[in-house]
Amino acid sequence: MGKIKTRYVCQECGAESNKWLGKCPTCGEWNTFVEEFIDKPVVTKSVGISNNKKPVPLSQVVIDDEVRYKTHMKELDNVLGGGIVKGSLVLVGGDPGIGKSTLLLQVANTVGMSGQKVLYVSGEESLKQTKLRADRLSIKCDQIYMVSENNLDYIVKYVEELSPDILIVDSIQTVYNPAVQSSPGSVSQVREATATLMKISKVDAVATFIVGHVTKSGSIAGPKVLEHMVDTVLYFEGDKNHTFRILRGVKNRFGSTNEIGIFEMTFKGLKEVLNPSEIFLSNRPESAPGSVVVAGMEGTRPVLVEIQALISNSSFGTPRRMAVGVDHNKMVMMMAILEKRLGIQIGGCDAYLNVVGGMQLSEPATDLAIVAAVISSFKDKVLEEGVVIFGEVGLTGEVRSVSHVEQRIHEAIKLGFKKCILPKGNLEQTVSGIELITVENVEEMLNYLF
Ligand code: TYD
Ligand code: MG
Repeated sequence: MGKIKTRYVCQECGAESNKWLGKCPTCGEWNTFVEEFIDKPVVTKSVGISNNKKPVPLSQVVIDDEVRYKTHMKELDNVLGGGIVKGSLVLVGGDPGIGKSTLLLQVANTVGMSGQKVLYVSGEESLKQTKLRADRLSIKCDQIYMVSENNLDYIVKYVEELSPDILIVDSIQTVYNPAVQSSPGSVSQVREATATLMKISKVDAVATFIVGHVTKSGSIAGPKVLEHMVDTVLYFEGDKNHTFRILRGVKNRFGSTNEIGIFEMTFKGLKEVLNPSEIFLSNRPESAPGSVVVAGMEGTRPVLVEIQALISNSSFGTPRRMAVGVDHNKMVMMMAILEKRLGIQIGGCDAYLNVVGGMQLSEPATDLAIVAAVISSFKDKVLEEGVVIFGEVGLTGEVRSVSHVEQRIHEAIKLGFKKCILPKGNLEQTVSGIELITVENVEEMLNYLF
């Protein structure tokens, strides 16, 4: 028997090396090299290529209407661009425990109820565990077939025997192809399994969902190659300590990636949140200093969220700065602007910032609200009731215009806000139902508020 040849493969980016390396020279990650056997190249048949094809002029390409299965979960249908496309391959990524299996079991139920046949392959949980979960979610659909399997060959066989409309593979990291010698979850296995599933989904027109775990750096385990292969990539995000979950489209060949879906994890599974602002503001303390409502955007949807700040005298030499839900550097920058441009002495204070409900605000339009919250807490003065704020702040303290102004203002009106503070550059016309206060710089806003 010849010597078994091995190589080392970076599990983060797929780079290969003949010897083990501590740090990957390609992506710079540490401890990602794993020994894998060198296989004979596995021949995967190309999908849908035959010899009688000819290039045709673009104008003569015929488009058949895509068949879409509605999930009847509006939040999910939106993110997918109007339902699950027949024969598409969708990758659902997210941290362990965030609710991917729960979401997909619920999807299996809703499409099953409309008469589609679903095959749910669980490589992580036993049939009993999945059944317990289904009972908890009160799922009784007869069109869902379950199997607990890791071997890719058998999964292919089940699909051929059952010919389902929808296939769910939970998760891609547990599936292995016996012809490939590396262990399940390794780059070669994940790549191989995805290629096979893609072939099934295209050739047999099965809409396939694959679950992928996320590594600590936030990308789906296995190389980026995986994201290139599939039609749609969705990330399921959220803070495990909060009940809200956001489904975000990162790539979509059948729709835009601007949409997000908001869900709430309840004891009976995931519930759609159709009016996020109302829920985010529901427990808002009245007349509390440091609390400000910002009109933010999540994709193409306006969301009103509360930002809280706490500024206190520091009892240590180096003041503490902590931000949850907004970028730490952004908070530091806003405080530096206040200190330098307006001469407010907050550099020596401890500062804490929190976005309520576990939301992550990353857009620049939150700047102005952060400034208002910080000063409100610093001066211990409550903001007047019914004010909503948005605007970007530049380093000279100027307030710059932002996008989606109309949607932000309308959402504020819908929730009963009376005043809106916004950048001067953004005001084109007055809107009835709300008083618009435009500001050119931070000082103007603070003069108005305090
Ligand atoms: P799960 O779907 O197993 O996560 P993933 O597949 O992404 O790893 O969800 C796990 C968590 O969700 C678990 O901590 C329990 C919680 N959960 C509920 O709160 N309510 C429910 O109805 C279900 C099914 C799960
Ligand atoms: Mg799971």
